[in-house]
Amino acid sequence: MSILEIKNLKKSFEGEMVLKDVSFSLEKGECLAILGNSGSGKSTCLRCINLLERPDEGEILFGGQNILARNVDENRVRSRINMVFQSFNLFANMSVLANCMIAQRKVLHRSKEEAKRIALENLAKVGLAEKADAFPSTLSGGQKQRVAIARSLCMNPEILLFDEPTSALDPMMVMEVCNVMMKLREEGVTMVLVTHQIEFARKIASKTLFLHEGKVDSFGPTKEVFQKPSKAFASFLAMEASLN
Ligand SMILES: Nc1ncnc2c1ncn2[C@@H]1O[C@H](COP(=O)(O)OP(=O)(O)OP(=O)(O)O)[C@@H](O)[C@H]1O
Ligand SMILES: [Mg+2]
Repeated sequence: MSILEIKNLKKSFEGEMVLKDVSFSLEKGECLAILGNSGSGKSTCLRCINLLERPDEGEILFGGQNILARNVDENRVRSRINMVFQSFNLFANMSVLANCMIAQRKVLHRSKEEAKRIALENLAKVGLAEKADAFPSTLSGGQKQRVAIARSLCMNPEILLFDEPTSALDPMMVMEVCNVMMKLREEGVTMVLVTHQIEFARKIASKTLFLHEGKVDSFGPTKEVFQKPSKAFASFLAMEASLN
């Protein structure tokens, strides 16, 4: 069984259909890159999976269970399918350590000691153990994003969602975040990545989905999608290349 199955997702905003019948599946241990032009519906798709947005139609099966059902505990789902945001979303008034502990305490009901131990482990994993007592405002963008990744990892998510995790960063800092993501990939963490960094997507993703005008234009093993690009994907790649 696929860990995640998206079936016939539709979503409109103010009468404009943004997702028009989107279907795909994700296997455990896989890294899926979602690529597409600005406005093609990538973030909307991720936000639906994370229950930040409710689709108008369709199903999202997580481990076979429909997470759009009425009785689902949304916070619990969000801890199991955890999102890393472009803008980090760290609490400015809390230390790095406290940022990594709060959801563990509130959602997973872990003891203070356990939450702290797990937070420190994951901060070490992203190379920031020494920043545990620092406040977010004293960190670089790349460091903030690595804290946000550590915070996500603390929830033992079954799937990590990344929405343009490096697009708010200076080029120097993009590398350090990409390296952390590569490491997670090698450990077999299941991920969905929305990015405009095409070369990185090509390197890290086992599968690629190209969203075009709200529809799945291409979906398959990354190698194949890039080697035999559809017309729309080829022109997207040419445009992205001209921007970089
Ligand atoms: N909450 C909302 N209310 C109204 N319109 C929205 C909302 N969220 C998204 N949209 C619209 O839906 C379309 C798709 O937006 P979305 O953010 O999913 O695109 P995207 O592919 O992530 O683009 P980008 O690459 O620029 O991040 C856009 O036209 C956007 O204006
Ligand atoms: Mg977006």
